[in-house]
Amino acid sequence: MFQSKIAGLGYYVPKNVYTNNDLTRFMETSDEWIQERTGIKERRYADRIGETTTSMGVEAAKIAIERANTTAEEIDFVIFATLSPDYYFPGCGVLLQREMGMKEVGALDVRNQCSGFVYALSIADQFIKTGMYKNILVVGSEKHSFALDFSTRGRAVSVIFGDGAGAVVLQPTTEDGKGILSTHLHSDGADAEKLAMYYPGASAGYYLEEMPEWPDVELGQMLMTKEMLEDGSAFPYMDGQAVFKKAVVKFPEVIGEALAKNNLKSTDINMLIPHQANLRISQFVQKTLGLNDDQVFNNIQKYGNTTAASVPIALCEAWEEGKIKDGDLVCLAAFGAGFTWGSALIRW
Ligand code: COA
Repeated sequence: MFQSKIAGLGYYVPKNVYTNNDLTRFMETSDEWIQERTGIKERRYADRIGETTTSMGVEAAKIAIERANTTAEEIDFVIFATLSPDYYFPGCGVLLQREMGMKEVGALDVRNQCSGFVYALSIADQFIKTGMYKNILVVGSEKHSFALDFSTRGRAVSVIFGDGAGAVVLQPTTEDGKGILSTHLHSDGADAEKLAMYYPGASAGYYLEEMPEWPDVELGQMLMTKEMLEDGSAFPYMDGQAVFKKAVVKFPEVIGEALAKNNLKSTDINMLIPHQANLRISQFVQKTLGLNDDQVFNNIQKYGNTTAASVPIALCEAWEEGKIKDGDLVCLAAFGAGFTWGSALIRW
């Protein structure tokens, strides 16, 4: 069995900065409300046309590939995590493979929302461990701004999310004790509807507590209707308090699971990179684990919640700032829609 290491990492965020005050142009909200509840000061939005989930992923991937001292032609598998794909199908993995001129390698999309990158990393780790692949590109990228409700009706959700991308290249390592030590993945579908975008979908709302009464929906027209846009049901739904309550339990749990598996304790962590869901959640997790400020990295203040991109963006930024050094114990952890959650423990 091989051990895998992150050989290169990169991130890309769009140039368009939207502060909390900028959002007051579209909805009734305030800088004070957003900062107090989420810690977010500003976020980035991609160009409406021309900048896509894939194109942002490509920019992050170029940096990761260069830092891994390899080339796009040498990548032998692609895993792309996103909840905001360019098309309903096919996935962004194949679009990235095309854009980057890669060989006819396998390309897999992971749709696990906020925990998508940790899931994708875990899959990549298994392929490296078995020796099946030697150079895997793992990308997390989101263009949330295309499908948020920017009216006052949607403010509880729309102020939280931002656009961006992060990427890593995974390779085998022979350095003893280095690389990904373990990954841990979980789900609980009982609350699947508490953080979700129901449409477009083939269920036509079947699982919802109050199933919509559809007027005569024609065969072939159940994905998205004009009414869904008008009544807001076309936009993401979030029961914020339910998410918060579950997240503050599952984050410490899955981090604890990773530490226990490796006979380590929370004080051994040099850097925790939590998914940037909400600064209050990260602070709660930090307190529960008894970590100091310099053991946890947060950048949600600048980028908002970028879902599958948040962990690789934060990891890369922390690394670029010199906060992750050779031999450090780094813990990645994520929680999100599904609910799904996971962790990865890495000896850098
Ligand atoms: N600006 C101003 N007021 C807002 C607002 C906004 N952006 N969004 C909601 N409000 C209002 C509500 O309308 C409500 O007003 P009312 O009391 O007059 O009805 C009030 O603020 C409280 O709303 P509520 O939804 O109960 O707020 P909350 O304290 O639960 O905070 C969240 C909302 C979303 C910030 C909070 O629940 C949260 O952080 N949850 C976790 C979300 C998360 O991490 N998601 C990512 C998942 S990976």
